[in-house]
Amino acid sequence: MNQQEMKQAVAAAAVEFVEEDATIGVGTGSTVNCFIDALAASGRRVESAVSSSEATSERLRGHGIRVVDLNNTGDLDLYVDGADEFDPHRRLIKGGGGALTREKVVAAASRKFVCIVDQSKRVNILGTFPLPIEVIPMARSMVARKMVAMGGQPEWREGFVTDNGNWILDVHNLDLVDPVATEKAINDIPGVVTCGLFALRPADVVLVAGSRGIEQISP
Ligand code: 5RP
Repeated sequence: MNQQEMKQAVAAAAVEFVEEDATIGVGTGSTVNCFIDALAASGRRVESAVSSSEATSERLRGHGIRVVDLNNTGDLDLYVDGADEFDPHRRLIKGGGGALTREKVVAAASRKFVCIVDQSKRVNILGTFPLPIEVIPMARSMVARKMVAMGGQPEWREGFVTDNGNWILDVHNLDLVDPVATEKAINDIPGVVTCGLFALRPADVVLVAGSRGIEQISP
């Protein structure tokens, strides 16, 4: 199986978690795009979807899936999203696509978070992938200096504007041995909207596509 086939396989496995007529949360990225396509092809009807990005909303609508506002749904039974890295405790780095804040909001509103990845995203300790941080524009340099003080090397994702009108710093070489503490510390810095660590609220289930099929990691 090549990487695209793995994404399609894990996306199809996630469709099995979708209850008929549910309102589900949908993440962002190429693996999630496969999930949206697989859901539409499955014929399984969903009532509506809460989307984590403009790109996902467009794809959902393209398949005739109604996109609704999280303010009108209450908590969701299911959220499906990809990740840039996952560890054995189902903690994640997300935000490679820049949608981390809305993704974190929808994950927080969901009872079950199913993360869909291929095996290339597996790590023992998070942090090989640079950690994305969404910042309000005026705070960019100040937050970057704080990241240097924490031992990281921040890089401004220049030219990229999030769906919320903010900017992204990608921080290399941070020590993420204690991702819960680091998530709290970074999120406490004024001007940080959120960081791409999903450790306080990890995934409930990680579905991993590999050459031998789909592995499910759950408590
Ligand atoms: C977007 C994300 C994505 O889930 C992450 O970047 C993985 O994307 P892909 O499925 O394309 O590898 O966090 O903000």
